[in-house]
Amino acid sequence: MRIALVDSGIGLLAAAAALRRLRPDASLVIANDPAGMPWGPRSPQDITERALRCARAAARTSPDALIVACNTASVHALDALRAELEPGIPVVGTVPAVKPAAEGGGPIAVWATPATTGSAYQRELIRDFAGGARTTEVPCHGLADAVERGDPAAVALAVKAAATLTPPDVRDVVLGCTHYELVAERIRAELAASGDTNPVRLHGSAEAVAQQALRRAGIEPAPDAAPGPDPLFLVEGRPAPPPAALV
Ligand code: DGL
Repeated sequence: MRIALVDSGIGLLAAAAALRRLRPDASLVIANDPAGMPWGPRSPQDITERALRCARAAARTSPDALIVACNTASVHALDALRAELEPGIPVVGTVPAVKPAAEGGGPIAVWATPATTGSAYQRELIRDFAGGARTTEVPCHGLADAVERGDPAAVALAVKAAATLTPPDVRDVVLGCTHYELVAERIRAELAASGDTNPVRLHGSAEAVAQQALRRAGIEPAPDAAPGPDPLFLVEGRPAPPPAALV
């Protein structure tokens, strides 16, 4: 049993951790693009070519499913990846968790890379799933690469800049880039300090994506899998220390 994950870099670790919890016996194949990271500032065509190269490398290992553990690549390259790999290998994209975030009625914010923010895909998602909740799209310049480099000062700066673009009354924030899930506690702390809604709820995608990949691969979660999200990447509730290599 083998699941492949594609991202520009380490953002895929959140979904990998969820898969590890759901099926500790699954082999995980990781394909990323350290030389081309970040994908966020790149053109749709460039992102598509890079995601295809990663996916082709992963496909050579014949995985039972391939997760595009990257919002940016899901927005711009999912159709191309599916056209090439399916039906042989089910391809699961990462969709920003707009619907669950908007369930409380809003206002909400969607933090994402520049390539995802303002894309037609994200705008349609908000139109179809935000249920009319006031929604602010926040481009987070430099945050994914700061996370990738494990640079706490750059993470703090990028998070602060994004927090200033987030209206203070926002109560639910969608983490629309998989890298952001790795610094969820830092984001929560900044929003708590700068906003007037406390606590702010953060909505990532890793758990849902991991579950969907197992479903598409026809694999049941392990009967003794611990319930709920992996605490390391928990984006609601209990504070959890981020990985030592990050912040
Ligand atoms: N982790 C990716 C995402 O979910 C991409 C980050 C980047 O390379 O800019 O959007």
